[in-house]
Amino acid sequence: MNFIQHESATKLRGGYYTDIDIARFLTRWVLEILPTTILEPSCGDGVFLEAIKEAAPRELKTVKAFEINEAEARKAAAKARRLTFAETEIRNTDFIEWAFRNLAQPLNAGAVLGNPPFIRYQYLDDAHQLLMQKVFEKFHLPFTKHTNAWVPFILLSVAHLQAGGRAGVVVPSELLHVLHAQSLRGYLAETCSRILIIDPEELWFTGTLQGTVLLLLEKSRGLEIKGHGIAIKPVNNRAFLATDPGKIFSSAKYTNGKVVKGKWMRALLTDKERDLLNEVYSHPDVHAFAEIAKVDVGIVTGANKFFLVADEVVSEYRLEPWAHPMFGRSEHARGVIYDLKTHEANRKAGLPANFLWFKNTPFSSLPTRAQQYIKNGEAAGLHSRYKCRIRTPWYNVPSVFTAPVGMLKRCHDFPRLILNEANALTTDTAYRIEVQPRIKPEQLVFSFVNSFTALSAELEGRHYGGGVLELVPSEIERLRIPLVKPKASALEKLDGKIRKGTTAAEVLAMQDEVILSELGLTKPDRCSLAAAWKRLRDRRNRVRS
Ligand SMILES: C[S@@+](CC[C@H](N)C(=O)[O-])C[C@H]1O[C@@H](n2cnc3c(N)ncnc32)[C@H](O)[C@@H]1O
Repeated sequence: MNFIQHESATKLRGGYYTDIDIARFLTRWVLEILPTTILEPSCGDGVFLEAIKEAAPRELKTVKAFEINEAEARKAAAKARRLTFAETEIRNTDFIEWAFRNLAQPLNAGAVLGNPPFIRYQYLDDAHQLLMQKVFEKFHLPFTKHTNAWVPFILLSVAHLQAGGRAGVVVPSELLHVLHAQSLRGYLAETCSRILIIDPEELWFTGTLQGTVLLLLEKSRGLEIKGHGIAIKPVNNRAFLATDPGKIFSSAKYTNGKVVKGKWMRALLTDKERDLLNEVYSHPDVHAFAEIAKVDVGIVTGANKFFLVADEVVSEYRLEPWAHPMFGRSEHARGVIYDLKTHEANRKAGLPANFLWFKNTPFSSLPTRAQQYIKNGEAAGLHSRYKCRIRTPWYNVPSVFTAPVGMLKRCHDFPRLILNEANALTTDTAYRIEVQPRIKPEQLVFSFVNSFTALSAELEGRHYGGGVLELVPSEIERLRIPLVKPKASALEKLDGKIRKGTTAAEVLAMQDEVILSELGLTKPDRCSLAAAWKRLRDRRNRVRS
């Protein structure tokens, strides 16, 4: 959990500035259409104003810039004074408020340049939170509290752009996949004729783990022109910044249809890979996860360190009657089977493999040592944590049940299911999965490991600067699984391979030979899916393929 009081002032105003070479590149591109008005919605100390000044476009008449921070606005104003050829106005005010209030009389800017602030909704004050919600309502877009300031910034900037105008902006790379940006993706797909995303391999903003992309978009001229869709151009160093942005934009291959609906990750695939993927999706033996299994979140304790403990703690406080086997981290479950042998090994290794479930046993009925353990928790203030204080007694964790299959929320290479042979509990770092009666849990666990399913996880999941892939239940439900019946001991073999540290690519290749061959996929097709998975995995981990 992140708390506002732990964040720096720079982070709270989203004050990470753009390098001049990036600003020059985007500026060159928007100036190609000779705009007479440029909007910079959050100008910081004015790097884009600097780039405009250098280019000295003669047609430019007006530059309108906003900056909420007074000291930064002053610095930007000093730069703006040198922009003698255009009337430049730097407003030390909130862009969202201004842009929302003026939606009925839009600026009709010929171009937008900038790098909107990345500020979580939860960090904004009440007035800004309310305003953000109103922006979504005005655009008839679904609102969620997971949103971030950069989303309404882009929505409003594009709304103030004239038909045929261009926007060249730096945005978080999560634009491609986070659920809360779905409203924005839908809006851009509707209102823009072409959207190019330049996707750098490196992290460009030091001091933040946030991956960024360059978004170059062209607003549609009217309903009669159908959008060309989106294109993503991967780049792996800054050399392209010295080249002609217009050439990159006009030579990109744009795709529409399914690619622009939902997440935009599909645009990272080649046409051939997308065709193959669509073919496999429609195979009768390939199922959406939601058709064959049900996913539930894990147990929420409110204080994992207190409820998940090693054997040492259990014996010190004589907690044996309330200790139940559990796993919740990848070091607990290295393979695809969690059995009693694994559990014993975890206990011996001193891992927190016990879940303490006191149910609603009254405090007075507990033995003295157990009472002492609970008092220790209270002395540490655990009973007043939100999740704990809303239940009685606070140490009675609700919704405690096991499921035949578990799945860790996060993974580095590909997600895997874990057959829960030890009937162990799992906490909120893992999901609990029930399988349809006609399918055996081991069948699902085995079939889940293959390049096609791994690729569907890259397309449906989300990741942040650190690279770890995370899937929430609604994303898991959309994964696709080719169901096969594994031969006897095939699951044990797979489990052994993964535990031994066999590389992810080797494990998937071994599985593909069994699972994807059974679907009728040829070796080149299997390799093509494996290569697409690997490319997306490496992109996420920022590793050169
Ligand atoms: C990521 S920085 C980018 C600054 C500059 N455009 C650049 O590219 O270097 C975002 C800027 O937005 C400003 N900002 C944050 N909220 C704002 C708001 N509601 N209206 C205007 N500016 C805002 C921050 O103070 C910060 O300077």
